[in-house]
Amino acid sequence: MKSILMALILAGLAGTAWARGDISLIARTCNGCHGIGGVSAGTSIPSIGGLPREYLRNVMKQWKYDERDSVSMGRIIKGFSDDEIDALAAYFAAKPWVPVRQAAPATLLAHGRQVADANCRDCHGLTGNDPDVDAPRINGQWAKYMELELEKYRSKEFKLPHRRMGKAANQMKRPADADGVAAYYGAQGR
Ligand code: HEC
Ligand code: HEC
Repeated sequence: MKSILMALILAGLAGTAWARGDISLIARTCNGCHGIGGVSAGTSIPSIGGLPREYLRNVMKQWKYDERDSVSMGRIIKGFSDDEIDALAAYFAAKPWVPVRQAAPATLLAHGRQVADANCRDCHGLTGNDPDVDAPRINGQWAKYMELELEKYRSKEFKLPHRRMGKAANQMKRPADADGVAAYYGAQGR
């Protein structure tokens, strides 16, 4: 009896160790697109290492349960259990956020900063590194990617459920405001 119990305990321990090992293995399948540690090489694929855990978990669950449209991620994420999604969110949230500063013309940056100050700073912070718990960091996120995301938030065909973010995106004029603000946040290092 004792040895059966022991075997069960050992199997249980091995199970947790395996599950933990598993997540870093699964996370490597993300690196091919998102980069090692979730730092993307650009330009239309976002960095994900160091984003808030709550945000990561939300978006992945929304893709899994068809509450959020996407180009690629919906298909990829459907292959994972809810527990794996939680573990992936924790794994990438624990990585440091590494902004990739991108250069842009000074006039575009100056206009983008005005837009950010008026429309975005409440939720993302003026430099994009002080987000609300359900919002992503966007300082040094890829500008091209952000431009594309802002377009999706503005489109009626594309389902992105966060209403206040959608409203903020729709208040901007295209292309001057949207491209300016994407360039501005993409240029922020901290
Ligand atoms: C084939 C390339 C590819 C792979 C592999 C991939 N992703 Fe993505 N990921 C994308 C693209 C492209 C986007 C932009 C959204 C979209 O169009 O789907 C994205 C967006 C995301 C976002 C949203 C980031 C944000 O700032 O809103 C998260 C979170 C994410 N991916 C997590 C993961 C995780 C975790 C894995 C591994 C299980 C993974 N991705 C694997 C291509 C990929
Ligand atoms: C009311 C709060 C709020 C305001 C104002 C706001 N955002 Fe957001 N933003 C969010 C939240 C929350 C999310 C995540 C939304 C989701 O889960 O769908 C988000 C998502 C984003 C994303 C997508 C990032 C990604 O990786 O997919 C970008 C880019 C973005 N915001 C830029 C902006 C810009 C630029 C402005 C100003 C024009 C702005 N936001 C104003 C709350 C806000």
